Order: sequence, then structure tokens, then C-alpha cells
Amino acid sequence: MSNIKKDIVVIGGGPAGYIGAIKAARLGASVLLAEKKQVGGTCLNIGCIPTKYFVQSVHTISALRNGASRGIEITDPSFTIDMKKAVKGKDKTVKRLVKGVEFLLNQAKVETVNQKATIIGKNLVKLEDGTVIETKNILIASGSVSATVPIEGLDSPFVVDSEKILDLEYLPKKLAIIGGGVIGVEFASIFSSFGSEVTVIEALPSLLNGFDEEQVEVLSKGLKKNKVTVYTSTTVTKIETHTDEATLSLSNGKSLNSDLILLAVKRKANLSPLTDEFKIKTDKNRLVINEYGVTSVDNIYGGGDVTGLNMLAHVAYHMGEAVAHNICVDLGLLKTPKQKIRLDIVPSVVYSDLEIASVGMTEKEAAATKKYDIVVGKFPLSANGRSLSADFSEGFVKVVSERKYGQILGVFCAGLNVSEIIGEAVVAMQHELTVYEIADSIHAHPTINEALKEAAAICIGQCYHWGS
Ligand code: NAI
Repeated sequence: MSNIKKDIVVIGGGPAGYIGAIKAARLGASVLLAEKKQVGGTCLNIGCIPTKYFVQSVHTISALRNGASRGIEITDPSFTIDMKKAVKGKDKTVKRLVKGVEFLLNQAKVETVNQKATIIGKNLVKLEDGTVIETKNILIASGSVSATVPIEGLDSPFVVDSEKILDLEYLPKKLAIIGGGVIGVEFASIFSSFGSEVTVIEALPSLLNGFDEEQVEVLSKGLKKNKVTVYTSTTVTKIETHTDEATLSLSNGKSLNSDLILLAVKRKANLSPLTDEFKIKTDKNRLVINEYGVTSVDNIYGGGDVTGLNMLAHVAYHMGEAVAHNICVDLGLLKTPKQKIRLDIVPSVVYSDLEIASVGMTEKEAAATKKYDIVVGKFPLSANGRSLSADFSEGFVKVVSERKYGQILGVFCAGLNVSEIIGEAVVAMQHELTVYEIADSIHAHPTINEALKEAAAICIGQCYHWGS
């Protein structure tokens, strides 16, 4: 019945799938990758990259606004956004990156098919056109899709998800965003800078639940500057559709009109490769894997958002690599021990004009363990030359450490370009460098990055650009 034989079939061409496919193929496995849309997945096509394209426009707008104080005389400082052109520019960047991934897959001799795939047996994958592939191993990397919530009137034509909003042909006058998590906040920052009147409705008492409170404060101030209205501890009870707009009724008794509503209330695992013909264990709508990435079936692995573990592209890259390694051990192509998936030291970033970037335990979380004598070093970016030169005095870099050895427990940053700092913190934490080593290393000046050295130095009383 089968007409193709492979070592591995990878289902899904996002960060977990394409990296897993390329790595396994480079190690000598015969790999087929099935992707029903475009390789690159959510991250590249409808997530991280397109939103960063628009965030860059936010920086451009901000630079134009700051021009006058720098002696750059712009006669007419008003601007309008041509969404068609903006979307075209975004598409160009995405296309270039997709081509890059296609090139890498081709170069590694991964056979890529543009089809939906389902698992119909321990060693059998069926493609949409009826082709059945016999395979030794399967990697399920089918990603995630936008989740929804039960709200009366949610089927309104004015409601979009985080994918549809990327292809808007017009700039909404009034944008309502349901959900003040990472996606909601990023879009609030983008569209308020573009000129839309933005309202964020968040069910919990704070935006960006789970992030350090001081970080959230910095981003919230930025939103306030852009006149974003934020309702916390509030839900939408009803949406009524009219000709040109919709009315949202809120649980706080208020109502608002809006010509676009973004639903950003989490994502959920895409379990579409699974069938009733062949059962693989799931739990609360996510694919269950063990620490090596193996599902309930020993030759079938999972990686990325479909596992529901930490829905971040860089976690998916890591899982794809680890799982490809482990499958190649199964196939006898590698003679090394299997690799565990690591989820302990994972950075997290939220982007707007200013950014927040974190890794590890917050001060509160570290205190709750009752294991450490905690020392916090916080260096304000108002004392950082590079940040001030760019007209930004907001933000900080905060190192949470412990007194005895100087171990770094967490790093929390907010401010201009701080996403570029967090990699150093990750390397230090993963390889058990202490605040002493960070403080002792020469950091380039002037950079935002040197604020990390200063914060580490504060932990050991050796910072000479702050304090006494
Ligand atoms: P999220 O979990 O970050 O935020 C969803 C928010 O919606 C929560 O704060 C929740 O309390 C709120 N909410 C839920 N139901 C609600 C309701 N009925 N009314 C009002 N608020 C409601 O999820 P989000 O932002 O959708 O992101 C999904 C995933 O994508 C996350 O797992 C995230 O890690 C990942 N992602 C990460 C990015 C980054 O790190 N920069 C960027 C984009 C996505």
C-alpha cells in the first residue's frame, strides 16, 4: 500500500520541523517534510517576523517624532500609513526568509511536499493526495493555532486573529484588542503608533501576566504615551455588529465601538496530524512527550508548539535539534547518548518601541523557593550613554543573584534594544558563570549591553557608574 519509504517523516515546516528535518538529513537520514502551507511556520509567516517588520516601522515613527529635538527640521511632521504598502514590504521580508529555509531544506536533500499529512499507523503517514509513506520515525511539529473564547457575537466580520491582522488593507480607526498578553501588547504598540485608537481588554489584573512587574510598568508607560486605553480585570461579554463597526459590551459595565477587533487570547496546539485510526496520547489538547521528545509511541516524536510546553520559536528550534539528534541515535546514525529537551533557561522577549527581555527566576520566585540569600542589582538605563543618545531614558537591567557564590538566578531587562542583551545572560546562566565573571568582563562601550555588566557589578558592590 505504501509507495515511498523514509527514515523520518516530519509533519510541519515551522521552526521545530524544518530545523529537525535539516539536522537529521545532514546526519544522513532520508527525510520527507510535509507542510500544508509554507515552510517557516507561524514564526516566519504570521508571527515573530512579520510583527517585527511592523515594530521596525514603530521605531521609524518614533525616530521621526524625536527628529525636531535633534535639530532635524521636518517641515510637515504628520504622517499616514499606507497599509497596502506596509503589508507588501512585510511580505517581501517574509518571502526572502521562506526562500532561505527552502534553500536550506533543498541543500540538505530533504524532500518537501506541500500537503497536509496525517498519521494512520505506527510507521505510516498519509498525504492529502492519498500517498502513503512508510517511515521508521515520525516527528510531529504541527505547531499551534489561535485559540478562541466563547463570546456572544464573536463571529462578527470585524473580528480578526493575529494572522488576519497582518494583511489588513486599511488602518482601523478604532482597534479593540481582546487579551493583553504578548500578542495583544505587541499589536497595541504597533497600531497605536500607526495612528489607530487602541483599547486593550485583559481578563487578569495586569497586562503581560507572568512578567516582572517593573518590566510591565515600562511597557505600560509606552502604551499610555500612545494613548492606548487598558481595561484590566475585564472581559468582553457581547459583540454587536453594525454596518461600519461593532459594539463591544464589557464586564465593567462600559461599552465601546470599534471598526476592528483583534482576538489575542492564547494559542492552542494543532493536533490535526492525529487521527482516530491511530491513537497517540494527548492531554488537555496538547501532544504529550517525554524529556527526550518521544510521544506515547516509541518511534514517534513531537517538538515545538504542538507539545504546548513553551510556545516560543527558539524553544521549537531547540526541540527540533534535540529530537533530530535522538531519532538519529535510534537510526544508528549517531553513537552518542540521547539529548534531553531543556526548558529551564529559556529567554522571553516582548517587542514594542521599547522591549522587555527576561530569563530565569524573578526576585519573588527566587524568594519563594526559600533556598537563596538574594541580592538584586538594578542598573537604570537613564545612566546608560547609548540609551540616552537615542533619546530613551526609560528602563533598566536587573540581575537577581544569590550572595554565597554569586550565582545568577534571573535577568530582567526593559528598555531600548534589550532583547540583544538577553543572550549573554542565557549563556552565563546555562554555563554557571556568576555575577563576578560578568562584572569582570570588558563590555564594549557605549552599548546597552554594558548595563548587564553594571547590574552584575551592583550585586557585588563594584559598580562605579551608579550608587555610592
Ligand atoms: P498569552 O497567554 O500571552 O495572553 C493571552 C491573554 O489573554 C492573557 O493575558 C489572558 O488572561 C487574556 N484573556 C484570555 N481570555 C480572555 C478574555 N475572554 N477576555 C480578555 N482577556 C482574556 O497569549 P497570546 O498573547 O495569545 O500569545 C500566545 C502564545 O504565543 C504565547 O504562548 C506566547 O508565548 C507566544 N508568543 C510569544 C511572543 C514573544 O515572545 N514575543 C510573541 C507572540 C506570541
